[in-house]
Amino acid sequence: MTIRAQDISKVFMSRSKSATSTPAVRDATLEITPGQTLGLVGQSGSGKSTLARIILGLLRPTSGQVLFNDQPTSQFRAADWGRFRREVQAVFQDPRQALNWRQEIGSIVTEPLRNYRIGDRAQRRARAAELLEQVSVSPKLLTRRPPEVSGGQLQRIAIARALALEPRYLICDEPLSALDVSVQAGIVNLLLDLQQRQGLALLFISHDLGVVRHLSDQVLVMRRGEIVESASAAEFYQGPSHPYSRELVGLAAATAPAAGGSRPGPTADTTDQPPETETTATTAT
Ligand SMILES: Nc1ncnc2c1ncn2[C@@H]1O[C@H](COP(=O)(O)OP(=O)(O)O)[C@@H](O)[C@H]1O
Ligand SMILES: [Mg+2]
Repeated sequence: MTIRAQDISKVFMSRSKSATSTPAVRDATLEITPGQTLGLVGQSGSGKSTLARIILGLLRPTSGQVLFNDQPTSQFRAADWGRFRREVQAVFQDPRQALNWRQEIGSIVTEPLRNYRIGDRAQRRARAAELLEQVSVSPKLLTRRPPEVSGGQLQRIAIARALALEPRYLICDEPLSALDVSVQAGIVNLLLDLQQRQGLALLFISHDLGVVRHLSDQVLVMRRGEIVESASAAEFYQGPSHPYSRELVGLAAATAPAAGGSRPGPTADTTDQPPETETTATTAT
């Protein structure tokens, strides 16, 4: 049981037809297996999100294929996509954009259950509380709406929603980048905990090598659309083989320790910054 992206390339057509577009992703191959965390690291613009969107079926590759349990998703029928979406969920960078502001939190986290017609109203309400508990968010927030909740809490809520259908795979595309540093470690630890307790397969995408190191069993390095290195986390930190990876390790060592690591300070969401400052705290560079 795996998701396998095989020789994926993606060329975005440029508006001016004369311009030659360089591929956003080039011949990328990776495999996501249950119980494992695959870290995908690379600078902004290296093609991480494009690859993630292709894996999720949100974007068509120019060439290559995605195999879900050995079946190419390009051959999927509606029912296959239904099954796929139940098992493969995503968490994105900015929960403020990802969640509907007018919906109550309780309704947000159980929306997937309604879509799949799972349970009755009372069962879904009970499940909503359970889901919030899983991500350590107070059930008091069930009747609140996103604007009343901090960014860190909102990302937890986005994760709760992604867990509603009990997926096997979670694709996290820069899930910390819109959050204040003080709440990042809490989210990392939550993901680690979920991965270990539920045996989730995690594809964790970040431009922050330190975070990827903390989470991953296997590390992939992407540069200008290509996966230039794939190594176990241990191998990787003993000495990555690609010069670019070495450069990244050097950079990571030179900057502050990452979320989930030894960064001092509070990790609880109760210390959240106000939303205004939070969204500007860190941007992918
Ligand atoms: N919808 C799109 N149309 C045209 N170019 C795109 C589109 N999405 C991404 N790109 C380009 O593809 C490259 C990779 O982007 P992206 O996958 O977002 O990188 P990352 O997630 O690593 O920052 C960038 O050069 C970006 O400008
Ligand atoms: Mg991205």
